[in-house]
Amino acid sequence: MNTSSSKANPYTLMFGKLPNQFISRTSQADLITGTFMADPPNQQVYIITGIHGSGKTVLLTEAARFFRKQKGWIVIDLSSEDDMIQSLASQLTSDTTLSRLFRSAKINLSFLGLGIELQGESPVTSLQTALTRMFESLKKNHKKVLITVDEAANNTYMRKFASLFQILARQDLPVFLLMTGLYEQIYELQNEKSLTFLYRAPKIHLSPLSVSTMAANYKKNLPLDIDSALELARLTKGYSFAFQVFGYYVYQEKAFNEEAVTLAQQYLEENAYEKIWSELSQKDREVTYAIAQSKDGKIQNIRSVLKMDSFQFTPYRTRLIRKGIINGDTHGYVYFTLPLFEKYVLANYGLYY
Ligand SMILES: Nc1ncnc2c1ncn2[C@@H]1O[C@H](COP(=O)(O)OP(=O)(O)OP(=O)(O)O)[C@@H](O)[C@H]1O
Ligand SMILES: [Mg+2]
Repeated sequence: MNTSSSKANPYTLMFGKLPNQFISRTSQADLITGTFMADPPNQQVYIITGIHGSGKTVLLTEAARFFRKQKGWIVIDLSSEDDMIQSLASQLTSDTTLSRLFRSAKINLSFLGLGIELQGESPVTSLQTALTRMFESLKKNHKKVLITVDEAANNTYMRKFASLFQILARQDLPVFLLMTGLYEQIYELQNEKSLTFLYRAPKIHLSPLSVSTMAANYKKNLPLDIDSALELARLTKGYSFAFQVFGYYVYQEKAFNEEAVTLAQQYLEENAYEKIWSELSQKDREVTYAIAQSKDGKIQNIRSVLKMDSFQFTPYRTRLIRKGIINGDTHGYVYFTLPLFEKYVLANYGLYY
């Protein structure tokens, strides 16, 4: 705990909640809100992807917060670990205003066991029919529903929910979906034959945070001049989690010194890199290791270490870029997107199997 003489650290080591020190992703947030708010909307789905710690949950939370404040919007959070369709129905009906609407629309939901019964109405026999009727009555009442799903998984709950969503959206019902997931999960899900709309759904791939904005933030909160603030910001490579972790330890140590960097590195490794590494295949690790050994990121040299020709190497390059581990913007080169990741890889390659 902080004593009364020391102010609370402005940076956070926590995942999944809105941080106090926040670097806005204005263009990506505006894209989501602008598109969903348009009348008629030209998209009803957005999928946010990015590596662990890139800020998916934070962006989702920021967008959900925006819509909660908009008149006529209802935001419902669903988890792919539960029966999503059941949960959607029960969350909609547990809202007193909405359940009044459904009653007056004479939707008999008694089979849900949610205590809504109407005499004389034949009960709807499937949840899908019930939800269709509910959304029709929401539409009549100018209400819109944003459903958020953080960490979509390719499981039965998710597939059933996605196919229901597809049916509702096709009928021009006011339902919107904002979903996050790791590249692998989204890739698997969108390749399900029945879920082609996800394949076409626009993806927001989280790019690095602005280094200059981060530097200005560091300068404001930390005992650093502009040059050191910029140096610290550059060290994070724009990785969201690293922005908090470096800020946190430099604040704690009251200096941008070796101790602070070591503590930050250790924290990043234990709380992000271990997980990222454990999710890589053996072959991806081999390629990652070769990249870590390379001094300049030149693909030609990396390939010769791996004894791969360009045809063999390209699929690995593509996949590691999609996962958000490397950046391939410079032709002929690849670079890690995560700060000090090469150190982690060099130290850990070969230990886990
Ligand atoms: N725009 C931002 N500005 C400042 N810090 C951010 C921003 N986005 C995320 N962070 C910080 O980065 C860390 C990770 O963010 P978040 O939990 O959103 O990542 P994630 O992509 O959901 O990761 P995971 O895949 O593991 O769930 C958190 O500490 C959060 O405070
Ligand atoms: Mg998350």
